[in-house]
Amino acid sequence: MENSIKTILISEEEIKSITASLAEKITEDYKNSDKTLVVLGLLKGSLLFMADLIQRIPLPLEVELMKVSSYGKATVSTGIINIQFDIARTDLSEVDILVVEDIIDSGNTLSRICTHLSERGAASVKTCTLLDKPSRREVNFIPDYVGREIPDEFVVGYGLDYDEKYRNLPYIGILKPEVYGAPAENS
Ligand code: IMP
Ligand code: MG
Repeated sequence: MENSIKTILISEEEIKSITASLAEKITEDYKNSDKTLVVLGLLKGSLLFMADLIQRIPLPLEVELMKVSSYGKATVSTGIINIQFDIARTDLSEVDILVVEDIIDSGNTLSRICTHLSERGAASVKTCTLLDKPSRREVNFIPDYVGREIPDEFVVGYGLDYDEKYRNLPYIGILKPEVYGAPAENS
């Protein structure tokens, strides 16, 4: 598995410190809210990040999960986002939702989810992403909390996959382009 990684972009230690500083900001921002904080992870990519993040937020909170359509085997988004399962709760007007995502690329996924949750009547909706590729944005979407901006490279590990593999790597690495069928680079 490690043979498929070109470079380690973010080490385990860096991930820990990024997560800790995001959790600190989030805690500060939500500590005085009178609403229920619901941390909503998008499956499957946000699983590891979500698990580490919530352990560092010392506030009463609830966890929910949603699944939206994935890339499958491609490394570029189709732009079509399907909600495969939604949150089943009826108290959205009483909750502050913090959507947790692994990475923002075109911005289509998070902007669609935020519109959907607002339309369902959530008291507030904010977003937290571990990684952001701002150069790839197709829609005007600005996340509230960003762990790290990264260049336009396809990355895997710490929850992020290529064709469902590599999620279990403890770091974030750049996948060798030849793994997804692109010609090898001369370097
Ligand atoms: P967006 O809708 O284009 O912003 O895409 C966001 C989704 O694309 C994320 O939830 C990831 O599942 C996937 N994605 C985007 N870039 C990468 C990447 O570099 N590695 C793995 N998944 C990615
Ligand atoms: Mg994803």
